[in-house]
Amino acid sequence: MSNSIAIASGKGGVGKTTIAVNLALTLSQMGSKISLMDADFGLANAHIMLGINPKRTIRDMLKKGLPVEDVIETGPNGIKFISGGSGLIDILNVEKNSMFQLINSINPIEKYTDSLVVDIPAGASDQSMTFASAVDKLVIVLVGEPTSFMDAYTFIKSANLEYDIQNFSVVVNMVDNEKSAQKIFDKFQNAVIKFFDANLTFAGGIPRSKKVQNAILKKAPIVLEKEAELEKLAFQRVAKNIIKARENKHNGIRFFSKS
Ligand SMILES: Nc1ncnc2c1ncn2[C@@H]1O[C@H](COP(=O)(O)OP(=O)(O)O)[C@@H](O)[C@H]1O
Ligand SMILES: [Mg+2]
Repeated sequence: MSNSIAIASGKGGVGKTTIAVNLALTLSQMGSKISLMDADFGLANAHIMLGINPKRTIRDMLKKGLPVEDVIETGPNGIKFISGGSGLIDILNVEKNSMFQLINSINPIEKYTDSLVVDIPAGASDQSMTFASAVDKLVIVLVGEPTSFMDAYTFIKSANLEYDIQNFSVVVNMVDNEKSAQKIFDKFQNAVIKFFDANLTFAGGIPRSKKVQNAILKKAPIVLEKEAELEKLAFQRVAKNIIKARENKHNGIRFFSKS
């Protein structure tokens, strides 16, 4: 049975898409069949990082009712990719029912998917929360800045209190080393556990790296580069921790009809 993983953050610009794309590719390098869905409509840019130019997007599923099979493309390393398009202002405020339909219409990819990775919009909007509560595993991307702490806190508060999500894996991006990532995580966890009954686990840090930036400029994901051992190791560590992470088992509309 396929599982699903969402990459979320409170704040934008923290590296959510970078992590979604490279995590998907790392899991695929580790031998899993991976599909990646760019559900960050409006700011959809995973296709740019993957270096592909999709013919069809989620917009065609939402607006024209096209089946997922007509929209899904093959990306690097054989991963399957569902694009969110770009600048789709008219689908920014997708109604809950349409999102539920979209989540259900992904089911056919289960045949060739071990794990679905979903890049979801920043913030604690209805849209983000619908996707966050539709997956088995929820990953929060954090950076060591007060604004990121505040926004990640708000996201977890809403996810935990309003959507009954208990388990969160935290990736700390743009760090100097693993020790400082752990420190940032500890500080964040202390702030959160005081107030909520949420289970946060540290999934690892991703180094702040010029190579990551260059890979984005080159439209060639960092984990496919030859000379990026440190970055690749970081993504492998994160991938292994996410494989081990606890699943959320609440009721409601879920990917692959798990409800
Ligand atoms: N580990 C990193 N090291 C250096 N720069 C990074 C790293 N991760 C992300 N960035 C930079 O941050 C920018 C925003 O990342 P992106 O993944 O688009 O964030 P989000 O999806 O959260 O908005 C990237 O264009 C890149 O320049
Ligand atoms: Mg993004």
